[in-house]
Amino acid sequence: MVHYRELGLVNTRELFRQAMAGGYALPAFNFNNLEQLQAIVTAAVDTRSPVILQVSKGARQYANQILLQYLAKGAVNMAQEMGCAIPIVLHLDHGDSFALARSCIETGFSSVMIDGSHLAYEDNVNLTKQVVMFAHGHDVTVEGELGVLAGIEDEVAAERSHYTRLEEVEDFVGRTGVGSLAISIGTSHGAYKFKVKAGEDVPPLRFDILEEVERRIPGFPIVLHGASSVPRNIVEEINRYGGKLEDTAGIPEEQLRRAAKSAVCKINIDSDGRLALTAAIRKVFAEHPEEFDPRKYLGPGRDALVELYKHKITHVLGSAGKVVLPG
Ligand code: G3H
Ligand code: 13P
Ligand code: ZN
Repeated sequence: MVHYRELGLVNTRELFRQAMAGGYALPAFNFNNLEQLQAIVTAAVDTRSPVILQVSKGARQYANQILLQYLAKGAVNMAQEMGCAIPIVLHLDHGDSFALARSCIETGFSSVMIDGSHLAYEDNVNLTKQVVMFAHGHDVTVEGELGVLAGIEDEVAAERSHYTRLEEVEDFVGRTGVGSLAISIGTSHGAYKFKVKAGEDVPPLRFDILEEVERRIPGFPIVLHGASSVPRNIVEEINRYGGKLEDTAGIPEEQLRRAAKSAVCKINIDSDGRLALTAAIRKVFAEHPEEFDPRKYLGPGRDALVELYKHKITHVLGSAGKVVLPG
């Protein structure tokens, strides 16, 4: 058993309280490898933002669970060495079983999501409650989910998406004891959220549902998944350098800014990072076909990620400069 405090990590409780009071959202960026992690930490330190390092079940398998502990501890030490000990959370994204959540808690995660959103309501309540009871024994915070996002929810195919059902919200939060709630208001996972041509509008998020959730559970931290914006310039760059992504669009940044000012305290972004990294690597491969040193293409990829994350933190989430240092 490795407790997250031994790694220098924090849970989300106090960070959500501050985000709620300050009208901003915490960045939750997914990572699978060293360059993504370096970029997230660099961007968070440079902007003085707290940050949530997010790891999916697949990412944990990819990176290796032992190595992950050291990477997380390394992230904390790296931030200190860079001169700003920002609060860092290590969070399980879309946990799909009690066993996985428990294993993450026992190996240094400070926050876990248990995603029972695709289950029958009572089954979601029971699974989530089981995880909360175990997690709270270790002072780990838990995110639950109500409503099914369109697209793919991690490894769980969400064939029938539906918005969060308002009548379930209070009951779910009260009975499970979760510390935050992911809701479905029109976002979806991946790079193909909306199939549109350049200049066409996408359907707006259902802010009416968000507002009603806020009315029913005032002051309770809400989480938005599937919040990549799929920037058109990055998609075009990928295609210019030999990629093949179709007409697509994500969630407009002004809508995310609006959400971040509300009870939404955590915004999940994965796909935009994947796109930025891919575009930068493709550019090097296209312009310098003689290159074969990974540092020569992963390095520019990492630089592109730093810029992307700094932009999100500063201009979308509003968490720049929000680090509250002790003393
Ligand atoms: O919501 C899912 C995340 O984007 C993680 O995706 O399971 O491919 O790591 P992944
Ligand atoms: P995107 O695919 O929109 O980046 O969403 C990521 C996410 O919700 C991770 O849980
Ligand atoms: Zn998600």
